[in-house]
Amino acid sequence: MPLAKVEPVAMWTEPDLLQVRQPAGRAVREETIPLQSEADIVQARQLVRKWAIEAGLGLVDQTKFVTAASELARNTIIYGKGGIMRLQMLHEGVRRGVRLTFEDKGPGIADIKQALTDGYTSGSGMGLGLSGAKRLCNEFDIVSKVGEGTRVMIARWK
Ligand SMILES: Nc1ncnc2c1ncn2[C@@H]1O[C@H](COP(=O)(O)OP(=O)(O)O)[C@@H](O)[C@H]1O
Ligand SMILES: [Mg+2]
Repeated sequence: MPLAKVEPVAMWTEPDLLQVRQPAGRAVREETIPLQSEADIVQARQLVRKWAIEAGLGLVDQTKFVTAASELARNTIIYGKGGIMRLQMLHEGVRRGVRLTFEDKGPGIADIKQALTDGYTSGSGMGLGLSGAKRLCNEFDIVSKVGEGTRVMIARWK
């Protein structure tokens, strides 16, 4: 389910990077699951835990990554009206990591900066999902276009 037409409006952890950067690492394996229901969130959490362990992440990092994934999966379902999560096992030299991509064809986000503000919610949440996910990961990227959809990518390295 590629979001081919989505324009890059990237927000990287490095604030001076205005362009979408090629994510680090080479994906050696990938798997995609649907995100439509609460049961899919449970499956997403279990898969992310499994892949994080396989990448060699420690227990604390595993938990941070699962927490971030859980928030993004929930956003995909609630705001994006459903979508997918793709897992990729990353190799970069001897380094190992996991990249997760959440994609939906929902309404998109008009103001990404506002959406990333701690405490901002357009619904009834805590407004800490996106900002929290960004803090809990080593890489964070969001691309969204109103009327077309949203793609959020996170990665965590050992
Ligand atoms: N996939 C998405 N599609 C559309 N809007 C989204 C998506 N993810 C997040 N948003 C918007 O960003 C806001 C902030 O998200 P988040 O930080 O997770 O807080 P919360 O889920 O508590 O509202 C949401 O309230 C929503 O307006
Ligand atoms: Mg949320």
